[in-house]
Amino acid sequence: LDNGLALTPPMGWNSWNFYACNVDEDKIKQAADLLVSSGMKDAGYKYVVIDDCWQTGRTADGEIIADPVKFPGGMKALADYIHGKGLLFGLYTDAGYTTCAGRPGMYGYEVQDANTFASWDVDYVKVDWCDNRGMDPETRYTIIRDALENSGRDILYSICNWGINKPWVWGADTGNLWRTTDDIFDFWQRVTWIIDQNYPLANFAGPGKWNDPDMLMVGNYGNGAVFGEGMTDTEYRSHFSMWAIMAAPLIAGNNLSNMTAFTRETLMNPEVIAVDQDPLGRQGVLVSDVDGRQVYSKILQTTGTRAVVLFNRSESPSTMSVNFTSLGLGSSVAVRDLWQKADLGTFTGSYSATVPAHGTVMLKLTGTEAATSPVVS
Ligand code: GLA
Repeated sequence: LDNGLALTPPMGWNSWNFYACNVDEDKIKQAADLLVSSGMKDAGYKYVVIDDCWQTGRTADGEIIADPVKFPGGMKALADYIHGKGLLFGLYTDAGYTTCAGRPGMYGYEVQDANTFASWDVDYVKVDWCDNRGMDPETRYTIIRDALENSGRDILYSICNWGINKPWVWGADTGNLWRTTDDIFDFWQRVTWIIDQNYPLANFAGPGKWNDPDMLMVGNYGNGAVFGEGMTDTEYRSHFSMWAIMAAPLIAGNNLSNMTAFTRETLMNPEVIAVDQDPLGRQGVLVSDVDGRQVYSKILQTTGTRAVVLFNRSESPSTMSVNFTSLGLGSSVAVRDLWQKADLGTFTGSYSATVPAHGTVMLKLTGTEAATSPVVS
């Protein structure tokens, strides 16, 4: 959506994956505090988004009511608190009659709710698709887009209709991001299932318009409220590497109060985040796949550079190679390993590494663009 927002994929934290419905004002304030004290804010995570279950009903004149027990200070004061930390404030709602947890949705109240959100200084709205009663998503999400635009506030618009009716086709004119799949859960097969649906959509993404393969599970280890027995560190790092090369929104969903060193290093690796946030805004693509040994490449803004993920989806460690000419580069390339944070040297033709089962090696390649065919006139 050409509203000047999300020129790179949005980054932040959302309450759903760890707390689900069990969310309140203190937890949101604590998350804001921890984004700052942990270094997450400085790493780029700036939106604090309250997901489902903050709403209880409507007043007689239709105004949406924030749960007075869970959010006694009200949403405007919470927005002020979050803004006071140099962060931005997001809320969840739904385009249908009720949210997925049965709270009031926006249907019939689009303009009123958009204006209420603007009056609370909301910066980001995630709009779900539960209880839609067969309505057309493009129509409903366009009505909400217009309501947000007319609210007088810059509000980043996240469409969450789980890929129904191909939102990547109409989403670019409607929202800043659109979910491409059903919900993520905290287990490995769910992550690869999402990747397989999201990576082929690369051509639809760009500045202001992103494919959204859902929020991050990194660091939950099965302890979050959302289903799943958890993943290994290797798997969480592959999850994060793939989100970065797919230029996905990086919306953390873990408990920020007890992050392991590995979780911190994964979520806050500046060079991996820079791949996700590269200003050119190209989503990476699958270059090759040999029995689940996949190579992905993302064109970066600086001429002659690529980010590469060697992703081993097989059950055994494997030696994997990336061929430079297959990425459109010349044959001499300097290779940097972004997780090892090490320059590996200059290689000719290709680079090979051993990749653990379910693991990734993430690289930045610096070379030259391969000569293109001369234009014949
Ligand atoms: C849907 C969405 C999730 C989350 C829940 C809240 O399942 O896809 O991301 O917002 O609703 O109820």
